Amino acid sequence: MTLHLVAGLLKAAASALEPGSTEFIVTVQDIRHDHLTAAREHISNETILQRVEREVKEDCSHLQTFLQAIQTIEEISPKSKDAIMAVGERLSCRIVAGILNDQGIEAQFVSLETVIDAGFDSTTLDQNFYDYLSRAFASALSNCGHRVPVVTGFFGPVPGSLLTSIGRGYTDLAAALLAVGLGAKELQIWKEVDGIFTADPRKVQGARLLDMITPEEASELTYYGSEVIHPFTMEQVVRARIPIRIKNVMKPSGAGTVIFPDQDALGCQLVKPWSSTPTLVSEPLFLTDGRHCASEREQTKRQQQHQQRPTAVTVKENIWVMTVHSNCRSLSQKFLAEVFSLLDRHGIAVDLISTSEVAVSMAMEGSVVEEKVMKEVVSGLSSVGVVEVKKGRSIVSAVGRGMKGLVGVSGRMISTIANVGVNVEMISQGMSEINVSCVVAEEHAWIALQAVHDGLLS
Ligand SMILES: *[C@@H]1O[C@H](CO)[C@@H](O)[C@H](O)[C@H]1NC(C)=O
Ligand SMILES: *[C@@H]1O[C@H](CO)[C@@H](O)[C@H](O)[C@H]1NC(C)=O
Repeated sequence: MTLHLVAGLLKAAASALEPGSTEFIVTVQDIRHDHLTAAREHISNETILQRVEREVKEDCSHLQTFLQAIQTIEEISPKSKDAIMAVGERLSCRIVAGILNDQGIEAQFVSLETVIDAGFDSTTLDQNFYDYLSRAFASALSNCGHRVPVVTGFFGPVPGSLLTSIGRGYTDLAAALLAVGLGAKELQIWKEVDGIFTADPRKVQGARLLDMITPEEASELTYYGSEVIHPFTMEQVVRARIPIRIKNVMKPSGAGTVIFPDQDALGCQLVKPWSSTPTLVSEPLFLTDGRHCASEREQTKRQQQHQQRPTAVTVKENIWVMTVHSNCRSLSQKFLAEVFSLLDRHGIAVDLISTSEVAVSMAMEGSVVEEKVMKEVVSGLSSVGVVEVKKGRSIVSAVGRGMKGLVGVSGRMISTIANVGVNVEMISQGMSEINVSCVVAEEHAWIALQAVHDGLLS
């Protein structure tokens, strides 16, 4: 479903809530017109076209009736909003199935809207529920036979509502749960990016597409650029040991980036079912349970790639650094406890901490801290020390599982940044052990990042 269509549907829903408004009728007409035009443009077989046209008209008139009902009762529940989104999914899938049929590819439209059994009583989105969903999705597909299933990303009544509980990433989640239910060899997620890069390719010269990355690294990197894949979706697939491949819709022939756990992290035993003597082959190797691991070639490549160097680098902008200089000659436990509990009470999350003999510095995201709250914190801390807040900072991070416990990377990072004349104000290893971060002035962040990329990743 395109963003344009989502916006249209949300607009229609909002207009239906205004008494006397007829704008939603116009919006539905537009949606109907867009889909009929798309069908006529891309489907040449008359029989198929007529069928798709009929389906589109039916779905749209159903949508209009639904919106009229909303206007009458003057209320729209999160579940009704879900139902409106579902119509959009249905329309898109009808067209795609029609186009495939027209091309001589046997395809079948599958709706997951009613897949959740009314008797299934779940009030929480937990693993139990996801397991249930994967089984239900797989069985919804079981009667497709050899036909290509064209599945709606929307799945109906989840606890809360799909849009509020899961959000716009629900189609990815649906695909992930389907992959799990079907025991797929690979889950492909098509986006408008080639995959995951060593750095933001729009800003860093020489940024390369990564052919492989671990889920831990990928979730550290979701921060930059477009959020490639929802961590939650990733978790479902990773649990089932299914590789995820990110591909670009605009460049179907590209290999994309594969997200897959490390073999050692999986405790994976490489077993070649067809031979007992180890030979170097490029075919995929198999896990004992039959799922494929990365090929040896890819594995070696990845090991080299990870040797003492980061996998990717990123910048996080709009960072504030708060430094508290202790009134006493040294930092006491009590001082630190007081600082952190005050921040905690004000709901301020600290990204990065570094301490010296007499001061503690903390980096935080400026966008989430309110000026008013900050003032309160500063005055609250005035009894224990002198507080200074510097704004306009950035965090430059290097991420990579191969850096685990490597003091060397931090050292090289500092000297590389210093070499281009940029001052490193703070440095710290992230909580995750696969992330080394430092704070620099905002205006130097990209110079620093480029230097780190050139020096440590090339
Ligand atoms: C159009 O599609 C229908 C249904 O799939 C098929 O039976 C028919 O042969 C097709 N007509 C042409 C001209 O290809
Ligand atoms: C790495 O760690 C820093 C500090 O904890 C954090 O701000 C950042 O979001 C983490 N990840 C990335 C990719 O920068």
